[in-house]
Amino acid sequence: MASAEVLFVQGGRKLEGEAVVQGSKNAALPMLAAALLATEGKTVLHRVPPVKDVLVAMEVLRRLGAKIDYDLREEIAIIDTRDVTETRLPEELTSRFRASLLFLGPLLARFRRAWISEVGGCTIGSRPTDYHYRGFARLGAKVEGVAGGGIDVVAEELTGSFMYCDLPSHTGVENLVMASCLARGESIIENAASDPEIVDFVALLQKMGAKIEGAGTRKVCITGVEGLVGAEHTVMHDRLDAGLLMMASAITGGDIILKGVVREHLYVFEAKLQQMGVATIEEGEWLRVRGPSELSPINVVTTFYPGFPTDLQPGMMALACAAKGDSYIRETVFEDRLGHVKNLRAFGAHILPEKDRLVLVRGPAQLKGAKVKAMDIRAGAACVLAGLAAEGRTGIHNLYQLDRGHAHIEHRLRALGADLERL
Ligand code: EPU
Repeated sequence: MASAEVLFVQGGRKLEGEAVVQGSKNAALPMLAAALLATEGKTVLHRVPPVKDVLVAMEVLRRLGAKIDYDLREEIAIIDTRDVTETRLPEELTSRFRASLLFLGPLLARFRRAWISEVGGCTIGSRPTDYHYRGFARLGAKVEGVAGGGIDVVAEELTGSFMYCDLPSHTGVENLVMASCLARGESIIENAASDPEIVDFVALLQKMGAKIEGAGTRKVCITGVEGLVGAEHTVMHDRLDAGLLMMASAITGGDIILKGVVREHLYVFEAKLQQMGVATIEEGEWLRVRGPSELSPINVVTTFYPGFPTDLQPGMMALACAAKGDSYIRETVFEDRLGHVKNLRAFGAHILPEKDRLVLVRGPAQLKGAKVKAMDIRAGAACVLAGLAAEGRTGIHNLYQLDRGHAHIEHRLRALGADLERL
């Protein structure tokens, strides 16, 4: 979806002050879907970030018949899904974000049927969905393309089964966990992803009455139960939002303190920042992040958790552009997540394509303000970072992408002394 708004960034300010990391988008999304499983009581979620993908996910729930009371100020969502009967997902909303796939698992578990049309999301590769559908089929569902369009997933009953992901898929595991938790008997998901958002999401499901073991490891076991009830939970902090703020301090030679950085979720990323010369100092519940006068170059290979997160790769590339020397960055999780190279070149960065999703960033480049279009959430974040470091004025278009993942980013960066304006 296009957005007419533009974020203007006047570069060259060192960031100083304090900021708070938002609640995690990628934990809140599966939790909103999981609320569909409650046939008794309400689900109450705290620290739900008001990012566009989350707001659209709430709209999907409403269209299915759920009642949601979302207090934007307090960031609390109270979700009542007891009267839901609709099992067809609204096409015009699911086309906006790929995580809408996550509604299939709970609809299948609770109603034994679901229909979905196209899913949208970031254009970072072909992003297949086979693990989701293959897993549903192993639980006993029939997955069929429908003549009029879309996919029907229907089951007479669901029986616990052995499932696996060829690659550890984040939403794949979440979807299969939800599809299994009301199935008869035990299910096993092998080669599961172990991201912290999955652990947090499973913690909510456990409070709802689900029997799940092994979240956070490569093998997750689910024992089906008769029913689930609403529960209360606080969403973890967003490690990708934390990463963006940390990089904003690093690239401007800033000195900021952040609340809500869970360091154990970001070990590899933090170590890479330290290698670039960034100081990270724990001060009680705050993390101080101090950028050097000149960043050192870095080598990064993205991989599955706990490796370097693919979602922080575009931002890291922006930092590498400003670093003195050659940095190598290799993307291995998604086949086409280098769209921001074009954006960064518009700022004057020297980025040479190698092969096999490897790029050589030759720094330091004197970045200059540019007019750019954010192609996905994290490419948008890379543009913000380059804009903060650049000489002159940057205009970031297609702002909807950035808003999908980061809430009030211009307010939070402005409070740190950055010069940003949304028009
Ligand atoms: N894959 C398949 N088949 C599938 C599913 C995945 O081949 O059925 C492959 C993908 O093509 C990819 C790999 O498995 O090569 C991992 O993809 P994964 O399924 O883990 O990605 P995802 O669950 O769709 C989530 C995040 C993404 C994040 C990735 C990787 C959510 C809502 N989305 O996507 O977040 O990049 O995991 O960590 O949790 C973002 O927030 O900007 C974002 C894109």
